[in-house]
Amino acid sequence: MKTEGGSDAAKRGAGERAAEEVEDGFVVGLGTGSTTAYAIETIGRRVDDGLAVQGVPTSFQSRRLALDVGIPLTSLDAVAGIDLAIDGADAVVDDPDSAADGALVKGGGAAHAREKIVDSTADRFVVVADPSKLTTRLDRSVPVEVLPDAHTVVADRIRDRGGEPTLRAAERKDGPVVTDNGNLVLDCEFGAIEAPTDLATELSSIAGVVEHGLFVGLADATYVGTDDGVDVRRY
Ligand code: A5P
Repeated sequence: MKTEGGSDAAKRGAGERAAEEVEDGFVVGLGTGSTTAYAIETIGRRVDDGLAVQGVPTSFQSRRLALDVGIPLTSLDAVAGIDLAIDGADAVVDDPDSAADGALVKGGGAAHAREKIVDSTADRFVVVADPSKLTTRLDRSVPVEVLPDAHTVVADRIRDRGGEPTLRAAERKDGPVVTDNGNLVLDCEFGAIEAPTDLATELSSIAGVVEHGLFVGLADATYVGTDDGVDVRRY
């Protein structure tokens, strides 16, 4: 689920700062969500000013926004790689003394499967966030995208692991959220996640799981927008 909170000014600051890192000729991974939207809009303005880039969107939402602001688009199978991915997060571990520093929970917008492919492919992955996303340990529910036929058996395996899965319900539609990939999402409560790497490995091993929202060891930096500027965490 989405994290409520965080000012638009903070989100804008983080997004604009990350967009400054885009260089001429880059292939850019375009993440999903309200914070990344500011980065996409800024890249669009830079394209208007002559910047030559190609974007790889991670969702219907980011594709539509990129088209609206004039960013030329491509796809993963048409490029040799991605130079920079910019993406938001629902939670970011902010504890330099922790092995999990920089670990993320994503998928509040149900886009985490494509986001993980793009973000993990990029030479550099920058997270854009506001202070409401920072936490010393992960304790929010983990979105798990599942094949529709598998949602009950995956839910059983999640319970075996001590989790409590809830099928994400749609708003303004009866029934569940259906992802851009035609799948369903289980939001899985595990309480405080002490060992995110182990949980990530276990979730990935369940048959029927398409992708989960734990992003461990993937981010290279987090740009945290505040009302006074942008703080940068590097990993
Ligand atoms: C999409 O599924 C998510 O991973 C988003 O990147 C995440 O929810 C951050 O979105 P906001 O910037 O809107 O909080």
